Amino acid sequence: MSAEPRGTHPCGTGPRGAEPRGAEPRTDRPSGLSNGGAGPGRAPGKRLRIGILFGGRSAEHEVSIVSAQGVMAALDTDRFQAVPIGVTRQGTWLTLAQTEQALRRILSERLRSLDEPLGEGLLYRTQVIGSFRRLDIVFPLIHGANGEDGTLQGFLELAGVPYVGAGVAASALGMDKALQKTVFRQGGIPVTDDIVVLNSEWRRDPAGVRQAAEAAIGYPCFVKPANSGSSIGTAKVRSREDLDEAIAEALRYDRKVLIEKAVAAREVEVAVLGNDEPEASPVGEITYRSEFYDYRAKYDDPHTELHIPAAIPQATAERLRETALAAYRAIDCAGLARVDFFLKPDGEFCLNEVNTIPGFTPMSMYPRLWEYAGLSYRDLITRLIELGLERHQEKRRV
Ligand SMILES: Nc1ncnc2c1ncn2[C@@H]1O[C@H](COP(=O)(O)OP(=O)(O)O)[C@@H](O)[C@H]1O
Ligand SMILES: [Mg+2]
Repeated sequence: MSAEPRGTHPCGTGPRGAEPRGAEPRTDRPSGLSNGGAGPGRAPGKRLRIGILFGGRSAEHEVSIVSAQGVMAALDTDRFQAVPIGVTRQGTWLTLAQTEQALRRILSERLRSLDEPLGEGLLYRTQVIGSFRRLDIVFPLIHGANGEDGTLQGFLELAGVPYVGAGVAASALGMDKALQKTVFRQGGIPVTDDIVVLNSEWRRDPAGVRQAAEAAIGYPCFVKPANSGSSIGTAKVRSREDLDEAIAEALRYDRKVLIEKAVAAREVEVAVLGNDEPEASPVGEITYRSEFYDYRAKYDDPHTELHIPAAIPQATAERLRETALAAYRAIDCAGLARVDFFLKPDGEFCLNEVNTIPGFTPMSMYPRLWEYAGLSYRDLITRLIELGLERHQEKRRV
């Protein structure tokens, strides 16, 4: 916890098991897709095997399944072959055969999640890990912990398997709301004022935390876990009476929480795509009926709407897109990210957060922004695979 508001800007007042039939061991990694999807050591016309990793332990498990189904349905099958790999809610990696079986059950029994109450740690899942040898690239579609936070990316780096999206550091920064804000402030990107509170600090000195929060932030404020998503553990707090409960709730999801100044603003988002020369999409806006964009508003409320493009002045849209690119570069992101902003009535804005594995169903903001910009869901997926392979080649060069 820091007693000082962190920064000064317009938003603040202060400062894997059966293998699929026909699977063959691979001998080399492809360098790109210029040969109609074939890389060196790969017969021309042979399809690349794309590991679609989905599910996982986060509250976004269900949306991850829908994203994976969307990607598998849209994948350009002339060039790619989907190899789905499910991760249960308990964190167990399913074998390819178990995943196929689970996907069939999801369709036939209308299940919405992968469950295996007696989950096993990854080190016991040697079959599924072995199956990675036969993949050309992994497309991680797992949100939150052990999917979006750099740990999965670190495993793939160790294994030498190319993957789509942000690398280890950018993923970790994209996940940690406190750390990313530190980087953004350093880069002159406006963010909301906040203080960070650790569980140990809260247990040791709750009165001191309250006092620091009130002195630096005041009410209304938002209390949220530093590493979470889908608004889980997030609350708007109007008075001291509600502060303790909000902090205790947020601390159920992380050992570190942010207490942020509440910003009265519209919520607008920009999709960024690319490696070292990223491009920004048009701006989209989200509107909802609840007090803030909470879990229900995100996944279970017909009143929530995406507006593409956002009805905002062109100059503001341009500044938002530039800032989204600056934020993307600031965390050294790759592949894709959705950059979310708070846009205030006076036209000023601040960056709320960067999501390195944004919702990726065909109806999600990220693919829809690109669709609006002229890049179809199918072509977007192809581009992301190309970018992941390019990035892998670049890393192998050094
Ligand atoms: N400082 C804030 N001011 C206003 N609204 C906020 C603030 N922080 C969070 N919110 C609201 O809570 C939602 C979820 O918070 P966010 O930081 O985006 O976390 P998540 O990773 O769970 O999406 C936001 O979309 C917004 O509606
Ligand atoms: Mg958010």
